[in-house]
Amino acid sequence: MDNTHEPEDKIAVDPAIHLTKVYSDDWQSETTSIGSSLYRGLEENGRRYQTLSQKEYLIPSDEKQFETYEAGHLVALVMDSDYDNPLFRAPVKNPKHILDLGTGLGNWAIDVADMFPEATIRGVDLFPPPVTWVPPNCILEVDNIAEEWTWNEPQDLIHMRIMIGAFDYNEWDRLYKQCYDNLRPGGWIEQLEASPYVECDDDSLPEDNILRSWGPALSACGERANRPLGTIDMMQDAFRKAGFVDICEKEYKWPLGPWARDQKYKEAGTVNYHHWMSGMEGWAMWLLCKFGAPEPWTQDEVIVYVAKLRNELKNPRYHIYERARRVWARKPFPEEIAARDRADSERVILKIEE
Ligand SMILES: C[S@@+](CC[C@H](N)C(=O)[O-])C[C@H]1O[C@@H](n2cnc3c(N)ncnc32)[C@H](O)[C@@H]1O
Repeated sequence: MDNTHEPEDKIAVDPAIHLTKVYSDDWQSETTSIGSSLYRGLEENGRRYQTLSQKEYLIPSDEKQFETYEAGHLVALVMDSDYDNPLFRAPVKNPKHILDLGTGLGNWAIDVADMFPEATIRGVDLFPPPVTWVPPNCILEVDNIAEEWTWNEPQDLIHMRIMIGAFDYNEWDRLYKQCYDNLRPGGWIEQLEASPYVECDDDSLPEDNILRSWGPALSACGERANRPLGTIDMMQDAFRKAGFVDICEKEYKWPLGPWARDQKYKEAGTVNYHHWMSGMEGWAMWLLCKFGAPEPWTQDEVIVYVAKLRNELKNPRYHIYERARRVWARKPFPEEIAARDRADSERVILKIEE
């Protein structure tokens, strides 16, 4: 099962997209804002940020961004809608305890709680999720997962989604180590991440289009901020380094806009369009205002940049998408670890004897 890899095919373009009326206005209309916050947080550059962690988290925790979380959840569900369980791929049987780190609005945790009424699902986030009702087996907590964890129950599954930019390399290593330590032997870790780069497999997106500047600009800010944005490409190695085995992955192309012929991709692209339209300002504001080049940007500069990007994003002639990747892996049983250690020490002895 090691390194299972299912690449997404090239997405076929819908030739009728310029003619159809169905998506012409509807797919561009804003979705309604959801939820309201419990805490006031920190207001900066017109956005609200969490204050639980001393270390700033780059994405705002406000109503506008919560709308983005909701849309991101839907994109992930639509992209896996042909599976009985679109929420995760790890082969978890009869789970008792599941943890969702950086739960956001708790969408994933709530859906998983509905799916496994016998299990306890904990969702944890820096900002109190503005939800008024959760299933009785779902607990949403406020905590900083970069610090020492205090949960006692060995987990069957630990899940993360769209945590890009939340940590530096050392914090990521420490987080995966804590995941490993808090899973029961045979338990699973799973993470789904997306890339900030706008991709295009044909020449429909001009080389000099401003959408192509987004990924490089944000990634450079992420490097300067010591919040690497390449999470999508580092998960496999990080899982292996933490000691996980049976590492599997599924790669996706999340369309941006309704340009695909296939209905699933068309729907995903439509929702992903909203994901980006509502999300871009929040994804960029902190990074560009603190780490923008050649010098930190002003709030107004970010707003103008995002307005230009949004304008381009509305063009359904661009066959654009972002890469996403789901990686899942298992914590080995003690006998597997012992066998691995024995094999390692035999290799060392052989080397010494050579
Ligand atoms: C982009 S959102 C994704 C939310 C959710 N996982 C989803 O996919 O809908 C990332 C979330 O991680 C949370 N987060 C970031 N750093 C965290 C930390 N150190 N401890 C707990 N939560 C954190 C943020 O507050 C935010 O709600």
